[in-house]
Amino acid sequence: MMLLNWRTGCINMPDLEAGINPIIGPRDALQNGGTGMRFQWCRLNQTLNGIAIAFEGQVYAYQNACPHRDTELDWQPGEVFDETGLYLVCATHGAMFEPKTGVCISGPCRGSHLLAVTVAVESRQIILLDDIRKNPDTSPEK
Ligand code: FES
Repeated sequence: MMLLNWRTGCINMPDLEAGINPIIGPRDALQNGGTGMRFQWCRLNQTLNGIAIAFEGQVYAYQNACPHRDTELDWQPGEVFDETGLYLVCATHGAMFEPKTGVCISGPCRGSHLLAVTVAVESRQIILLDDIRKNPDTSPEK
């Protein structure tokens, strides 16, 4: 399995404050239902882990934290899809999530959901648009 991207530091908050949206990685590195792209960013001085995935031609990103026990989803770095490539799976207890919505459809956290991270694709790059100041509902403190 190929590790696509693993940022080891926070995406630069001064860039966010200056209105510059950080690049997570190249869009072409993601394949539908394939290995996800891990990244980290800072929110309220807290380093958060995220994962970007591709599904049915679209890119989605979530905080890489299972709503059951807050563990990372992947069983190997970036490996979050099940063998069918249709669902995201938590490696700890096997909860399954819809890739488009992050909603848990089976497992101990059924009915809850992953926290979405706002991203966009510009010039073939995945861009982080998440900003706690504009998106307080995704705060991990809630
Ligand atoms: S930690 Fe994910 S299902 Fe339990």
